[in-house]
Amino acid sequence: MDIVTTSADLAALPRVGTRAVVMTMGALHEGHLALTRRAAELADQVVVTIFVNPLQFNDPADLEKYPRDVERDVALLSDAGVDVLYVPDVEDVYPGGTPIVTVSAGPLGAVFEGEYRPGHFDGVLTVVLKLMNLTGPDVALFGQKDAQQLIAIRTMVRDLNVPVEVLGVPTVRGVDGLALSSRNQHLSEADHVNALALIKALKAADAVATSGADVPATLAAGLEILANAPGVHLDYFAALDPGSAQPVPSDYRGEVVIAVAARVGSTRLIDNVTTRIGV
Ligand code: PAF
Repeated sequence: MDIVTTSADLAALPRVGTRAVVMTMGALHEGHLALTRRAAELADQVVVTIFVNPLQFNDPADLEKYPRDVERDVALLSDAGVDVLYVPDVEDVYPGGTPIVTVSAGPLGAVFEGEYRPGHFDGVLTVVLKLMNLTGPDVALFGQKDAQQLIAIRTMVRDLNVPVEVLGVPTVRGVDGLALSSRNQHLSEADHVNALALIKALKAADAVATSGADVPATLAAGLEILANAPGVHLDYFAALDPGSAQPVPSDYRGEVVIAVAARVGSTRLIDNVTTRIGV
């Protein structure tokens, strides 16, 4: 695995056949490794990026607290089918300082995660487009755990004619069902147990939806669990249109993303399932 820290060194590396990119902010876990393994199945050359993007953190304390352990990440990646690791510093990605021209997520950036983290998706899309330009992939893989992010990236690629195929990879969960996340390392043992309410609520909603119920009944099934869950402070539990990430109307029928965001202890977690409502 070639490890490079500058875009100049990245550009100088030979291209070998088709190229896949997996973009990360480090603090890698099995979910990231599932992305790199899938990337290695799909492309001849796998590029991984590790960059904690300041532009997507609306809360400086959250940026400060974001876990970083590049040495451990390198060790994990050395056995994961990765050919190139790009670990730039902020100056390499934003040589002119805070960028003047950025990507706007539009209405997609104003709902759900965007409502709780203003500017977050503009920051994500700006860095994803830059990293696509810097790494030149044929395909870019992203985890389905960040459902709204995946929808936003697909929309950007479509709307701006970015010549990259975007692929979503299923969420990897622990044996107890908790979605793997770099933020899980901030959970105490009690927080971890309390956080299981998120997947319980999603599973309950999924079961109700697939039994033929409508949107309000589907959401009520999950909300009942979350309302009684100790230590869980709910931000939202909602049904999103999988194409636009906007909330679906109560008479909606078809594929839907049920998404949840909650604070458990001092950690904010998100998760989702894709299901079908009323069909
Ligand atoms: O999902 C993430 O880790 C980040 O949002 C991404 C896509 C690497 C952009 O910084």
